[in-house]
Amino acid sequence: MSDAVKVGFVPFSAPPRGILVVFCDDSLKSGAAARKALGTAANTVKRAAAANQFKGKSGAALDILAPEGIKAQRLIVVGTGKPSEIKPHDFLKFGGVIAGKLNAGSDVVTVVAELPDGAMQPDQSAAVASGMRLRAYKFDRYKTRKKDGENEAVRADVSIAVDDVAAARKAFAPDSHVVDGVIIARELVNEPPNVLYPEEFARRASQLRKLGVDVEILDVKAMTKLGMGALLGVAQGSARPGRTVIMRWNGAKRGDQPVAFVGKGVCFDTGGISIKPAGSMEDMKGDMGGAACVVGLMHALAARKAKVNAVGAIGLVENMPDGNAQRPGDIVTSMSGQTIEIINTDAEGRLVLADVLWHVAKKFKPKFMIDLATLTGAIMVALGTEHAGLFSNNDELAERLTKVGLETGERVWRMPLGPEYDKLIDSQFADVKNAGVRNGGSITAAQFLQRFVDGTPWAHLDIAGTAMGAPKSDISHSWASGYGVRLLDRLVADYYEARKNS
Ligand code: BES
Ligand code: MN
Ligand code: ZN
Repeated sequence: MSDAVKVGFVPFSAPPRGILVVFCDDSLKSGAAARKALGTAANTVKRAAAANQFKGKSGAALDILAPEGIKAQRLIVVGTGKPSEIKPHDFLKFGGVIAGKLNAGSDVVTVVAELPDGAMQPDQSAAVASGMRLRAYKFDRYKTRKKDGENEAVRADVSIAVDDVAAARKAFAPDSHVVDGVIIARELVNEPPNVLYPEEFARRASQLRKLGVDVEILDVKAMTKLGMGALLGVAQGSARPGRTVIMRWNGAKRGDQPVAFVGKGVCFDTGGISIKPAGSMEDMKGDMGGAACVVGLMHALAARKAKVNAVGAIGLVENMPDGNAQRPGDIVTSMSGQTIEIINTDAEGRLVLADVLWHVAKKFKPKFMIDLATLTGAIMVALGTEHAGLFSNNDELAERLTKVGLETGERVWRMPLGPEYDKLIDSQFADVKNAGVRNGGSITAAQFLQRFVDGTPWAHLDIAGTAMGAPKSDISHSWASGYGVRLLDRLVADYYEARKNS
């Protein structure tokens, strides 16, 4: 992994080092500290802006050789657009844009965290720092030749100049743990499937113990004892045994009802006997994106010592065709007691989740359960890569998720549920079947999950389009996006944490 942007905060008065970064609005106006840093060079900057048709649009950057009279070698001016139109989520983007301008190898950078009419707020300069870290992340563990610029990662020593150093540091400390969580999720999703199989995934999740997270690993014997026939039916086709991992972070009072997060962890999805076509099958190494998000989220919550009791539960399997694999037509008995007719072995994620959701609902009686799963190709047809599909039996939870989605930029779009859809998965031979008709494929998948939540307030996020393979963005050039960590961390922070000052 390469995550080599080191960020520190310095006062505005500190002399800038290395590349100088300042902000300006859509009238090319900068703040007082930036003007001071530029000095007599301001005029040259104006001319360079005109020559490059730089108009200070949000996220645009003017990148020039530093004019005579400034100590810096390079000068980067980042546009904020019209000040009244800046959204909270834009500060991450600004950081991403800056990191995108850095060279591979090592750079020293000073960012003057200031808008035209004054210093950025502590949370805003912290977001610039987070954006830089997120954008600079690169998965290069398996590149043995990194010397040719192309493969070399950005390594930067960044000073962010602010008006209140202590306040900025205080704001960035928790945010930086959340960025670590995103990077952990990306790492897991980017790893090849020969390296990251269920037992290895469980081993990596168990590293959360260092942060005080209680980690319990259920092996096949333990899952058999619990009666997890749906999950085990998927797992039985692989030479690599399945696992369920339960992570618990207790940051609130003992006995406080926990919140729960459940992740689909199919470490590789061949489709099983209903095998997938060869084209892009390699992408199915990312079919554990939901589980990766849960691990990244638990890291974030524990590292920033969130005042919440949280349960993270992930079902880890490999879906393989094999002499011992389950067949279309098989009927398995889930932990809930409901029998499931297997119509298509490629609809395996819902089978894994059925048992983990039931287990979590019964054992922890959580305030709510949110599951994340790269569940259906159909959600990509519906929503592309801009929104995750949101399905919920609880309007308040759905509204909160929608709101934090807009704030973090990890957006969700609510999709319908209802009895007309539910009856499409009634089975001729068992209580339920694992696949309906092609139409409404994401909805029938969600209906299936709903049969295993036991009335618990629940939301399902179908992240097949957002967890991996999305186009590069200002804050991610990684195949795996780490989608969901920032969204759910914010949900917890805004609605489910005990007041910070109590
Ligand atoms: N993991 C896939 C869904 C998926 C597809 C995720 C493409 C990311 C990219 C899931 O297990 C699956 O195969 N779903 C089937 C369900 C169908 C057989 C009812 C699908 O979407 O085709
Ligand atoms: Mn599948
Ligand atoms: Zn799958």
